[in-house]
Amino acid sequence: MATLKTKILDIEFENPYILASGPETALIESIDKAFEMGWGGAVLKTITSDTLELNEVSPRYATLKSKGKIIGFQNVELLSHYSVKYWCDGIRFLKEKHPTKVIIASIMAPVEKKEWQSLVNTLNETPVDAYELNFSCPHGMPEKNIGMAIGTSSEISSMITAWVKEVAKRPVFVKLTPNVTDITQIAKAVENVGADGFATINTVQGFMGVDLETLEPNLCIDGFSTYGGCSGEIVKPIGLRCVSQLRRSSKLPILGIGGISTWQDAVQYIVVGADAVQICTEVMLNGYCIINGLKNGLLKYLEEKDMNDISELKGKVVPKITSHEALNKKYRLHPDINPEKCVVCGKCVMVCSESEHQALSKDSDAKCIKLNQAKCVGCTLCKHACPKEAISMRL
Ligand SMILES: Cc1cc2nc3c(=O)[nH]c(=O)nc-3n(C[C@H](O)[C@H](O)[C@H](O)COP(=O)(O)O)c2cc1C
Repeated sequence: MATLKTKILDIEFENPYILASGPETALIESIDKAFEMGWGGAVLKTITSDTLELNEVSPRYATLKSKGKIIGFQNVELLSHYSVKYWCDGIRFLKEKHPTKVIIASIMAPVEKKEWQSLVNTLNETPVDAYELNFSCPHGMPEKNIGMAIGTSSEISSMITAWVKEVAKRPVFVKLTPNVTDITQIAKAVENVGADGFATINTVQGFMGVDLETLEPNLCIDGFSTYGGCSGEIVKPIGLRCVSQLRRSSKLPILGIGGISTWQDAVQYIVVGADAVQICTEVMLNGYCIINGLKNGLLKYLEEKDMNDISELKGKVVPKITSHEALNKKYRLHPDINPEKCVVCGKCVMVCSESEHQALSKDSDAKCIKLNQAKCVGCTLCKHACPKEAISMRL
């Protein structure tokens, strides 16, 4: 019988599904409900010192849709509006009621040693399981030098991590931003001063678009917009890239985040190196109840693969990821067109001839597509562009 139980450092998880820091972890009573419904843990909405002024805007959100479905989300929301005392009392309440659930306190403060350490010292007195340092919110008050202003600098990130490690009585995860050229540099800097693990990604800085009738930005606040944090399906490839890069450069535990909406997405993160996953946007849009499908699907998959738990999946695909330089340049695939599916629409011919290669053509009576193998470089553009999925690739 497979199990979803997993262990990270000394922390036992009932299952690897954790609510990411965000609106779905902004209230104790909601987290209580999520735990009842089966989530393995929660990262609290980022807690900050009571003196930090937070001025939110309206609207806070914009979306990107494809065929009616939201595939991308953008937010310009700030941090928790509740006091440190609210969260300390809440952690005690939740731990007493749900002793087997994992609670991670996400924290952020101005770049001052006493601010970070006093927040951690206060939270140390609660039964919180771990800390997550939010160095990564892209719109989170850069004018006050916090959020991504910290996470884009190795020096500031490592300095704050060291301050926190000096006093923290629980493991410290650093939430890294994808909005840097090389995430592994920041990761190394914080690992060198004692970080116990990583969480990534936070949102990707973006601009959601413009209404072409009114020429107003999609996220329009009294006539103006700003750059916000993008999340949801559109950021998954960025999250997978970041997690795999971290796994290739470090052995520390990683909480994988970004665009996870199904158990299959979670498995993708685990096989490229995540130890557990966090989910935000999908829960915001579809509720805590998605946990049932996430758990059942993963359990069934483990059983079908004859695996006992997710440790057998962790990082499985990492050895298959390498540099472009190391890839076999002699390996060539060519299109194989299935005549049963091909309607000779010519789209593959068009995309091939309008790129460099011109390897495909219609035969003289336009009844089938012909391949000039000598010209074909095996790029796969024809396969991806075919509207009938009639093209597969072969050696
Ligand atoms: C509305 C909203 C608010 C968020 N607030 C926080 C926050 O307070 N602290 C934090 O570390 N991350 C915050 N995040 C980022 C998420 O925790 C997560 O890293 C990101 O959304 C990517 O995951 P997803 O694609 O599952 O949403 C927020 C995300 C959204 C959409």
